[in-house]
Amino acid sequence: MTKEFKRTLITTALPYTNGPVHIGHLAGVYVPADIYARYLRLAGRPVTLIGGSDEHGVPITLKAKAEGVSPQDIVDRYHALIKKSFEELGISFDIYSRTTSDIHHRTASEFFRRLYDKGEFVEKTSMQLYDEEAGQFLADRYVTGECPHCHNGHAYGDQCEACGTSLNATDLINPKSAITGSVPVMRETRHWYLPLDKWEPALRHWILDGHKEWKSNVYGQCKSWLDMGLQPRAVSRDLSWGVPVPVEGAEGKVLYVWFDAPIGYISNTIELLPDSWQTWWKDPETRIINFIGKDNIVFHCIVFPAMMMAYGDGFQLPDNVPANEFLNLEGDKISTSRNWAVWLHEYLADFPGKQDVLRYVLTANAPETKDNDFTWRDFQARNNSELVAILGNFVNRVLVLTHKYFGGTVPAAGELQAMDNEIFDEVLRLRDALTENLENFRFREAVKDAMAIARLGNKYLQDAEPWKIAKTDMTRVATVMNVCLQLCADIAVACEPFMPFMSRKLSAMLGLGTLSWDMIGGRDTVKAGSTIETPELLFEKIEDDAIKAQTDRLERIKEENRIKSWQPEPQQPDVDFDTFMKADLRVGTVLECERVPKADKLLRFLIDDGIGRRTIVSGIAEHYAPEQLVGKQVVFIANLPPRKLRGIESQGMILSAMNADGSLKVIAPSEPSTPGAQVK
Ligand code: MF3
Ligand code: ZN
Repeated sequence: MTKEFKRTLITTALPYTNGPVHIGHLAGVYVPADIYARYLRLAGRPVTLIGGSDEHGVPITLKAKAEGVSPQDIVDRYHALIKKSFEELGISFDIYSRTTSDIHHRTASEFFRRLYDKGEFVEKTSMQLYDEEAGQFLADRYVTGECPHCHNGHAYGDQCEACGTSLNATDLINPKSAITGSVPVMRETRHWYLPLDKWEPALRHWILDGHKEWKSNVYGQCKSWLDMGLQPRAVSRDLSWGVPVPVEGAEGKVLYVWFDAPIGYISNTIELLPDSWQTWWKDPETRIINFIGKDNIVFHCIVFPAMMMAYGDGFQLPDNVPANEFLNLEGDKISTSRNWAVWLHEYLADFPGKQDVLRYVLTANAPETKDNDFTWRDFQARNNSELVAILGNFVNRVLVLTHKYFGGTVPAAGELQAMDNEIFDEVLRLRDALTENLENFRFREAVKDAMAIARLGNKYLQDAEPWKIAKTDMTRVATVMNVCLQLCADIAVACEPFMPFMSRKLSAMLGLGTLSWDMIGGRDTVKAGSTIETPELLFEKIEDDAIKAQTDRLERIKEENRIKSWQPEPQQPDVDFDTFMKADLRVGTVLECERVPKADKLLRFLIDDGIGRRTIVSGIAEHYAPEQLVGKQVVFIANLPPRKLRGIESQGMILSAMNADGSLKVIAPSEPSTPGAQVK
């Protein structure tokens, strides 16, 4: 931090409104951005936190098609859901708007038009994939096919998710329309391209020379893009959902979603601050910070900056782009389409009042430098052994003791001893480390520093032992409790960016009024003589059954996904007819059926086979209760050589179907048949 800035504009990646937001979005973007914004506000520095929905793009139209509703219906539904759940989690947006708003359409349209008028685009005709059945061009996710790099068969027209390469639809091998499934043809179309190559030297200088302080994952990704050499990028598409291209003769064309979406940051600022927005974008004393996930780096560090350079007119480039890596869930990649996620709105419903727990766990475990894993066990452990046992416990003991010894009135401190002074000094050191970490976007470390104040408090209380000296030296007890109450105030302030709900509750109990960052380490923040409210628990233990409900849900989803992705076994090599005819398949009636002792899988059958009775042992005990099968008919192979299973001689094999869900279903004639009837 060499340069002093007057204000900070914080942007958060605008989430696509084709689904709800999940913990991966939160950990990567919204929680860190909110922490940073809250910290700056406490530090008294002007800040604006911009958010909003990204409501264009192909996935939204595909979802609408699949549900038989309009794209507008889809974006209305998810915009409302996302906005509400962000609010409930305490993400303190100054505005949360949407890219379907008039103001955004006007802003994005004007932005394009200015570049067009300045001659910043190259216009090119090219051959693109066209679906004759649907009568439309197939951009981006409208096509699937084989990736030319890793040969994954399910790559999309804009990206292969298996190897991460970004693609052009025409790169795909064996392309197929996602609308009709038909094989597309090539047809000529005209589009506008932003010549990124023209901006390459400026981008190199700006990032590689000017921003060596950026996170190494961000800097490294930019360097590798720049070293590969930049190409012109199409900024329009043949689609009907989006911002229309504001040029004569461009009917049926809209701006590419990645062209209009980042302009959404500007539109939303205009909507929030119609009179002063220019100061927030164009004054060199404004600092812009983009919070994003790693898949958005190229758009924020290369494409959007090139757009801004082309636009000119004083627009500032971001000062930092602290992009995060990905958060996995219980060891697997989070996936909206496979429903492998913890959805924010579901979490809020399942764990009411526990916003701070999620915020805390996602921060303590944030994927800042590498991909990380969210597990429900870790969630429970961090709540129970950190929030409850360290923070909640300290604050509760202090408040209860203050009530016990002083009837809830804050006692004045007597003369401070060395241990008291040391505590205050230690808090100041922690505050400095915490501040330094927050300034540098190291939120995992920062939240540890904030928690360290509570650890410190516990240790101090343990060492000072007010309960021992209460009989002999109430003046000392008063001093100890006063110091502890100051530490509680430090916790309320230092933890506010991370756990605002807890902070508000604690501040109210302590009667703190408006918080500010410089209160941390104060010796007189909680005023002697003031009243402390009756203590209320800040955190409560999360029991095993609540965790089990969540892990059970994930197990169910895993099972559903296994069924969805089930494929029939490939057909076996041919057998000649005579060989097949040797198998003697017959109908039998089950006379008796029972479990084979000490064998979990086996059932022993006694079958009326028309000729007599035979015993067959079958491995279907996990699928049927014996009494379900008595009296039923089955099909069995009669001419297998007898085989001993658990000491029982099995004379044949009962046939069952093996299903996608792993269940076995016994094969039976569709109508009652004669025992011994041959299956032909
Ligand atoms: N919707 C994009 C995504 O979820 C992010 C857009 S960020 C913006 O990956 F800058 F374009 F708004
Ligand atoms: Zn690939």
